[in-house]
Amino acid sequence: MKEINVAVTGGAGQIAYSLLPRLISGETFGENTKVNLRLIEIPQVVEKLEGTIMELIDCGFKQTGSLMATADIREGVTDAEWVLLVGSIPRGIVVEGKKIEERSDLLRINGGIFTGQGEAIGKLAKNDANILVVGNPANTNALIGKTKSNNPSQNWCSMTALDANRAKAQLAAKAEVDISSVTNMTVWGNHSPTMYPDPYNARINGISAVEVINDIDWVENVYLPLVQHRGKAVIDARGASSAASAANAVIDTVKSIDNPTEEGNWFSAAVPSDGSYDIPEGLFFGFPLRSSGTGSVEIVQNIELNDFAKSKIKITTEELLSEKEAVQDLLE
Ligand SMILES: NC(=O)c1ccc[n+]([C@@H]2O[C@H](COP(=O)([O-])OP(=O)(O)OC[C@H]3O[C@@H](n4cnc5c(N)ncnc54)[C@H](O)[C@@H]3O)[C@@H](O)[C@H]2O)c1
Repeated sequence: MKEINVAVTGGAGQIAYSLLPRLISGETFGENTKVNLRLIEIPQVVEKLEGTIMELIDCGFKQTGSLMATADIREGVTDAEWVLLVGSIPRGIVVEGKKIEERSDLLRINGGIFTGQGEAIGKLAKNDANILVVGNPANTNALIGKTKSNNPSQNWCSMTALDANRAKAQLAAKAEVDISSVTNMTVWGNHSPTMYPDPYNARINGISAVEVINDIDWVENVYLPLVQHRGKAVIDARGASSAASAANAVIDTVKSIDNPTEEGNWFSAAVPSDGSYDIPEGLFFGFPLRSSGTGSVEIVQNIELNDFAKSKIKITTEELLSEKEAVQDLLE
């Protein structure tokens, strides 16, 4: 059996609880890959991971390799082929006597975490490692982590697959088709309510979803805000943020990168812009992507964007530029 080292931060969190068994079950990395899992937590929580590891052992998957818990990011990411950066400080938590409510405070606190993690990954993870950022604000955390890693041969991305899955589910329900009929979904921009889950270039059985649904008012005024604000709707209904669906999206993203993309299709994740579609270089931006399955992921070019799409992409670009500005000192 092949072996792979996978590091996960936030190992004792909600998303991790749904994610970890699926990483070591053969589902994510294949039936013939043994997964050595390194769970990374903050020192106050790391002991809890002993219980998580007991449960993972008790799942009894033959693909389970070594299991380790650590509060030392350097130990956790050494020789990792995949690093899943799930851990972060949620909004609403009290840090040094102050309740963290503002996006700018959240950006700074989490940005601080990602500087040290980026440095450790750049030095110690495999040179061809894939790093997926899930912890919010995911795009800007990825920008900080990648900058600090100072290792251009590693591949960083941040997650928009949950938004893409939410968008596909809504289009499929409206068109009364199976969700597998909905392809070519792009979530342009930030993983935030400014995202643009592109209904014009998404396809239902090969035809533009907007054409199939034939109801512009629904697309622009119902579908779009529903997908953009779905995260908050789940929090309001469940009293906690999306966890099972977020874990599922992590697995979708890993599989999309590790396997060749189906002919004619693409998938969604945020990667550093190379200037495509006039997005400022370096910003972590949700794009349509294709993978060779052998380590290279490229941005799909020449997708037509109408004025509606361009106006939405402008808003999400501006938000990402202002997030970047708020953490500029962490990028130096
Ligand atoms: N990109 C997306 O689509 C998406 C979707 C859902 C949730 N999220 C984000 O994912 C993150 C995790 O969500 P959750 O529900 O699992 O949260 P959670 O609060 O249940 O768990 C987060 C865990 O991270 C740990 N942690 C904090 N700082 C850490 C550090 N420096 N190193 C290692 N671990 C650390 C915490 O101790 C905690 O156990 C949140 O930021 C959430 O907003 C992103």
